[in-house]
Amino acid sequence: MRDFKIAPSILSADFARLGEEVHSVLAAGADIVHFDVMDNHYVPNLTIGPLVCEALRKNGVKADIDVHLMVKPVDRLIPDFAKAGATYITFHPEASEHVDRSLSLIKDSGCRCGLVFNPATPLGYLDYVMDKVDMILIMSVNPGFGGQSFIRSALDKLRAVRARIDASGRPIRLEIDGGVKIDNIREIAAAGADTFVAGSAIFGTPDYRATIQKMREELAK
Ligand code: DX5
Ligand code: ZN
Repeated sequence: MRDFKIAPSILSADFARLGEEVHSVLAAGADIVHFDVMDNHYVPNLTIGPLVCEALRKNGVKADIDVHLMVKPVDRLIPDFAKAGATYITFHPEASEHVDRSLSLIKDSGCRCGLVFNPATPLGYLDYVMDKVDMILIMSVNPGFGGQSFIRSALDKLRAVRARIDASGRPIRLEIDGGVKIDNIREIAAAGADTFVAGSAIFGTPDYRATIQKMREELAK
């Protein structure tokens, strides 16, 4: 079995109690904090920046923080997020003028780097950077909002990326983001994902521990 990780998206948390929400989802068994950064330019929504990431670290959050940049331009925010305590920084390749440079900037600032693919973005951006990326994130919704339905073409994409990762021999994480629920997580894992972002499916339920536990039971089947 792969080393599965559950990454709740704090986009669906109660922002008025963010620190408390993050601590409780981690205490409930989550592995990674998925941190959605939206700029009202690359995507039609506006969320949180490096100050909030830093505030979570100051509040004692020790888990990996997975910063998903949905911003254009990309590079300007990288050093600030690295300083703020990000573990992973991923970005959408079509939002960067120089994809290889953005990946290097992330690595050089001490974080792990990754590319994010929208439902209609082709995988060719990976061709010359498989030796560099630490994570590949497949979007199973169009980015911008929580609570959307899973787009099933993402399953074929996961299978294609899983084959590339296995061929590379590198420990690249394969993350899926959008519409992940208890009732589809098993099928998504079978297609090759090992890291599962879930926002509304976790924060929309009263008992985070029970929900994460059910997800793990599905993954163990
Ligand atoms: C969408 C974000 C996702 C979102 C997922 O643009 O990248 O991380 O919060 O939310 P759910 O799990 O509700 O689809
Ligand atoms: Zn995300």
